[in-house]
Amino acid sequence: MDKSKKYLKTINDLAHYFEGYTLGNTGKMSIIASTLSNAFNDWIFCGFYLVTEEDLLEIGPYQSSIVPCGHIKFSKGVCGKSAREEKTIIVKNVNDFSGYISCDDQTISEIVIPVFSKDILIGVLDIDGRLEGQFDQTDKKYLEEIVGYLK
Ligand code: SME
Repeated sequence: MDKSKKYLKTINDLAHYFEGYTLGNTGKMSIIASTLSNAFNDWIFCGFYLVTEEDLLEIGPYQSSIVPCGHIKFSKGVCGKSAREEKTIIVKNVNDFSGYISCDDQTISEIVIPVFSKDILIGVLDIDGRLEGQFDQTDKKYLEEIVGYLK
């Protein structure tokens, strides 16, 4: 299945899941992380970092076999850049990203999507891939749509 089809199926599954009853953001983030990880089982990490203090992100719901770092300052890493600039960041090769924070030795590419609630940044969705240039505008488009479920 190509990745657009995987995203469309994921969005359809999430829409059905979230339609039935009221779920807060923590529950929705958990369901999003597991549904995406199940669809894209080659990803190394898929999870949220949440804004818990000014200029600080803390690990939130995620799926991965790696243990991620607990805190990331807005001044550090790909997650920090996405939070600071409030925009999606795509990194083709993390070895070329100055200030990249490594949590494992297999990640080569990364995409980080900012998450908003009523136009206020509440966190980011971080995804790590094992192939160079794995993430592109297709991932950006569908992942931005998916984080739109968070309110
Ligand atoms: N690589 C991220 C840190 C988080 S881990 O990928 C789970 C970064 O540079 O912000």
